Amino acid sequence: DTINRLNGKRVVITAGPTREAIDPVRYLSNESSGKMGYALAAAAAICGAEVTLISGPTQLTPPQNVSRINVISATDMHEAAMAYAEKADIFIGAAAVADFRPEHVASTKLKKKIGEEAMVIKLIKNPDIIANVAALTPKPFTVGFAAETNNVDQYARDKLTRKHLDMIIANDVSRSEIGFNSEHNEVTVFSEYDEIHFPHQSKDRLAKALIQTIANAFQSAMDR
Ligand code: C5P
Repeated sequence: DTINRLNGKRVVITAGPTREAIDPVRYLSNESSGKMGYALAAAAAICGAEVTLISGPTQLTPPQNVSRINVISATDMHEAAMAYAEKADIFIGAAAVADFRPEHVASTKLKKKIGEEAMVIKLIKNPDIIANVAALTPKPFTVGFAAETNNVDQYARDKLTRKHLDMIIANDVSRSEIGFNSEHNEVTVFSEYDEIHFPHQSKDRLAKALIQTIANAFQSAMDR
């Protein structure tokens, strides 16, 4: 039944944006409220899972029966994710991780120089957290997100294959009524075996349906 579906299973979820410091008062970040990841954490806990939510900076309150680890940067999130993923049954990467970070972080506030009309900040690549989790042996059942503005299905399938994920949840973020700061979302879930569309609904309701789908696919993977 629904309530005890994930009894005793360890579920690790990343959520929210990461912040990449430029200097003590400035950073680069991504658009992300964290709502989808938090809703998934709440839904997994309701199903009896032991949930660790690794969260970037958000305005959200941690759901009941979820242990939250707060992180700021992608580097911090990567470290926490790798530590918890080793013991996880299911890993869900719902965070909007910054792909790049400034190579050098100034130790004091950068000042404008008179006559300077441009400045250059060199960015270096952040680790791909979910790809590194999916490369573990044994690896948890690994679920990613693909937030795209175009060619949503194709990019999602490419990511599933390239990052060796077990499942990917795709949403079209070019539509303002869903995604990002919205309370609602509409997604398509891709795995090697299926493609399932979830119509427009609240993120809370959608999270419950997605956790059921993930639990089913996890069970099938265990049985194979
Ligand atoms: O390649 P892209 O960033 O669009 O992939 C999205 C998926 O990968 C999401 O599940 C996101 O949480 C995860 N991701 C990650 N580490 C990164 C970049 C993305 O875990 N550095």
